[in-house]
Amino acid sequence: MYKTISPWVLVLLAGLLSACDKAAESVATQGALSHDGAVSDAAPLDRKLGVAQIARGSVIFEKSCAECHGANGKGQPGDWRVRNAEGKYPPPPLDDSAHAWHHPTAVLMEAIRDGSPGGEGNMPAWKGKLSEQEMQDTVVYIKSLWTDPVYRLWLKVEQQSLEP
Ligand code: HEC
Repeated sequence: MYKTISPWVLVLLAGLLSACDKAAESVATQGALSHDGAVSDAAPLDRKLGVAQIARGSVIFEKSCAECHGANGKGQPGDWRVRNAEGKYPPPPLDDSAHAWHHPTAVLMEAIRDGSPGGEGNMPAWKGKLSEQEMQDTVVYIKSLWTDPVYRLWLKVEQQSLEP
C-alpha cells in the first residue's frame, strides 16, 4: 500500500520543501529590502529603507547600542518592563518584541537624542556624541528589525503622527 502512496507523498514533500525555501529566503531579506513578507497576505510592502543606510546604522548600533539593547536589538535576558534594583527600567528590545515600533520616527529620534526622560532609565543622551545623520541611520536600522506585519502597524502610527 505504501508503495502506491509514496509518489504522492514525494510530491507533497517537494511542495513543502519549496515553501520552506521561500520562507527562508524571505526571512533572509527581511528588513534589508522591500519584499512581500511570508507571514503577510497584504500587498507588497515598500519600506523605503535604503540598504546602505541600514548598513551604516547597524555599525553604529553594534558599537554604541548593542551592549544595552542586545545584538540585533533583541534586548537582554529578563523582563524589560520591570524596574531593576536601582528602580530604573532596563533597556528594552528594539526589535518588534517590545514597544519601539509604537513610536513615530520623531519620538524615536527624541529618545536617542535626549536619553531617558526624567531618569526613568539609563538610556544615555546621544546628542553631541552622534550626528543627526548617524541617529537617523540607527533609527532606519532599528526599523529594519521589524517584521512586515509590525512595520505595517508602525506605518499607521507614523501617518497619524504626521496628521495636522
Ligand atoms: C547604557 C545602556 C544603553 C545604551 C548604551 C543605549 N540605550 Fe537605548 N535605552 C536604554 C534604556 C535603559 C532605555 C529605556 C529608557 C526608559 O525607560 O527611560 C532605552 C530606550 C531606548 C529607546 C526607546 C525605546 C522604546 O521602546 O521607547 C530607543 C529608541 C533607544 N533606547 C535607542 C538606543 C540607541 C539607538 C542607542 C545607541 C546609539 C542606545 N539606545 C544606547 C539603555 C541604553
